[in-house]
Amino acid sequence: MKKRILTGITTTGTPHIGNFIGAIRPALEMSNDYDDSFFFLADYHSIIKNNNTDEIKQSVKNIALAWLSCGLDPAKTIFYRQSDVPEILELTWILNCVTAKGLMNRAHAYKAAVSQNKDDPDKGINMGLFSYPILMAADILMFDSTHVPVGSDQNQHIEMTRDIATRFNHLYGPLLTIPESIIQDKEKVVLGLDGRKMSKSYGNVIPLLESEKALKKSIMKIITNSLEPGEPKDSENCTVFDLYKNFASEDEILSLQKAYDEGISWGDAKEKLFHKVNSQLEPIRDKYDQLHQDKNYINDVLNDGAKKARSHAVKKISQIKEVIGISKIS
Ligand code: TRP
Repeated sequence: MKKRILTGITTTGTPHIGNFIGAIRPALEMSNDYDDSFFFLADYHSIIKNNNTDEIKQSVKNIALAWLSCGLDPAKTIFYRQSDVPEILELTWILNCVTAKGLMNRAHAYKAAVSQNKDDPDKGINMGLFSYPILMAADILMFDSTHVPVGSDQNQHIEMTRDIATRFNHLYGPLLTIPESIIQDKEKVVLGLDGRKMSKSYGNVIPLLESEKALKKSIMKIITNSLEPGEPKDSENCTVFDLYKNFASEDEILSLQKAYDEGISWGDAKEKLFHKVNSQLEPIRDKYDQLHQDKNYINDVLNDGAKKARSHAVKKISQIKEVIGISKIS
């Protein structure tokens, strides 16, 4: 059987280096090992929590450009917007009808939202949040994906996708491919400016696509302890060192370790980190600036991706409708 990798990126926020290290770079590397790869912008997922039209528009554009600037090759990878493939929503409804409500009650994201409420457990919870895993299952099952790389927070959704597909196959015959998850670096969390996980919601991110100046300014803001120059520094639990490790070679890491032992100043350590990160982001920024100018390019790429994705989806949804009894009257 063909090995097909698929993953979605929710289009909220502006891309930061945590996205680069944790999602974009590994997915692009992995795509070389599979027969084909589908990467898409999960824009219907993004409206679950965000009603700001301009933010959604901006984010879709920046995230698409980030992937392309980081080296996604649209000739090799099918790259598309979820909303450009309406068959996914048809499948979502069909899957809704085979999914037990109880299964959705157990979803972590939904339960976390409920647990924040006091008197009314339903407060602020829309049906999109509740049935989010079903849309995700449709994303995956639509394309017979065999492998789905995700962060560990998404693993439960892949388990649910497998449950839903198994249920469908039990009712109608083995039409859906049961996917496997590839959990990326379980313990590998990219740290932000304040030492917590880098995340837009903590406001501690280092931008991916902004200017060299903005990058430097951001890196200089990383919180360190108050050890003076000359005092040996601990590289464990150190945000500067941790980030450096994500960009540097083995030799470079050893040499920074030595500098830590010898009491490098925080200013100099940050300077080294900046140069290392900057040298890798420079070509990405240049490509971004170039693609950014060309409005047609991104639309052309996404239209082309949607065409390829739909050629799979149209066939699949017609087989699915056939087996459930929604087909031409005979
Ligand atoms: N829910 C995923 C996230 O927030 C994004 C996503 C949507 C996805 N559909 C998917 C990931 C399908 C993998 C496969 O990270």
